[in-house]
Amino acid sequence: MTVINFLEAERFFGSENPQSLVEAFGSPLYVYNERILRTCCSAMQSITSYPNFKVNYSVKANANPALLRIIREEGLLADAMSPGEIDVLERAGYQPEEIFFIPNNVSDDELLFALDRGITISLDSLDQLERLGRLAPGANVALRVNPGIGAGHHEKVITAGKKTKFGINADQLNEARSILANHHLTVIGLNQHIGSLFMEPEPFINAARVFFELALSFPDLRFVDLGGGFGIPYQKQSGESRLDLLALNQMLTPLIESFVKDYGQPVQIKTEPGRYIVAECGVLLGTVQANKNNGETAYVGTDLGFNVLARPMLYDSWHDIVPYRRGEPLKTGDLTPQTIVGNICETGDVLAKNRALPQLQHDDILAVLDAGAYGFVMSSNYNNRLRPAEVLIRQDGSASLIRRRETFDDLVRGCLDV
Ligand code: LLP
Repeated sequence: MTVINFLEAERFFGSENPQSLVEAFGSPLYVYNERILRTCCSAMQSITSYPNFKVNYSVKANANPALLRIIREEGLLADAMSPGEIDVLERAGYQPEEIFFIPNNVSDDELLFALDRGITISLDSLDQLERLGRLAPGANVALRVNPGIGAGHHEKVITAGKKTKFGINADQLNEARSILANHHLTVIGLNQHIGSLFMEPEPFINAARVFFELALSFPDLRFVDLGGGFGIPYQKQSGESRLDLLALNQMLTPLIESFVKDYGQPVQIKTEPGRYIVAECGVLLGTVQANKNNGETAYVGTDLGFNVLARPMLYDSWHDIVPYRRGEPLKTGDLTPQTIVGNICETGDVLAKNRALPQLQHDDILAVLDAGAYGFVMSSNYNNRLRPAEVLIRQDGSASLIRRRETFDDLVRGCLDV
């Protein structure tokens, strides 16, 4: 697939450039590229040659309806974690049968929200299974199983193994079976998710092997969902390689085929990627506002606080940064270490520490790469800052506003006594 190494080579900004976009739509600004989004959708659909395979897009990574419509056009189903995610999927045209609800610790009302729509629900604890059984005896359900093998870029995003709240452990499955029998529930699907961001196929394959073994003991399965977590290279500028989807396919396809043969009935295989689909089609633009050197650190002050992109603050995540001056990539001069900070009242408001970049100055624009996943969705109004606008670069190179920048009215929306 296309490797998104250099923004300028890829014509990421279409007929615009960072300067013209910021002038037209303001800063900071999330910019998405439709062509790259479509490329990532089709790449994910190639991870197995098993024909009865579907990709569920995990809407938590980016919930902009304009992107969801494109993802649906590319043939992806979706999974949702909350009623709000179900709602936005419906607004973007998703039908109930195209949505899989994988909640965690939800209320009766939230379960009923999905049940009323006929959306398949996965339960991830015995307690929630019991609750669903009482609300909807006789229903078809899915179970989220913890395969005992986790993976991820940070301990906070590893979602299988012992140190996580997620999933029903293999040794709890007998108890699950008696709850199922008591309420006449039928397990039509099993799902797992080992965690977010692995760059080698092995953890995914090993967990799938364990999972398929467990699946053999459920006789009525229509689907088995292997989870998401497929990583993207955040350090492209240092030559980080991509997750090898071909190698993944070569390991995964025989594993699926042997499971389906042992299972003896047709069964759909699914995955649920979020990051892989949307991370690389998104760039966050921001503006340099001030320089300061305290003798130890050269600070570059920007409007890119952790209210706009939370990942570096939360997980020490790395995002490559490309600086622009007057619309052109800034390549001149020696590289010097600069610490890029935002405008939020916390010392931890750091986007990048001691990053080697050409000397930045007022009004330079920074393009923060691979910001399409867990970017806007995790942005906030902290310090009463407005959440940014979002713009889509269409395949013809034109730019459309797909979410307007917030206004001060948005900051008090819902408040009484204003
Ligand atoms: N399925 C389930 C049940 C999940 O919990 C997640 C992500 C996914 C699928 C999609 O995982 P992905 O393919 O995107 O790795 N905010 C963090 C990532 C949190 C992931 C949460 N769960 C980050 O910015 O790295």
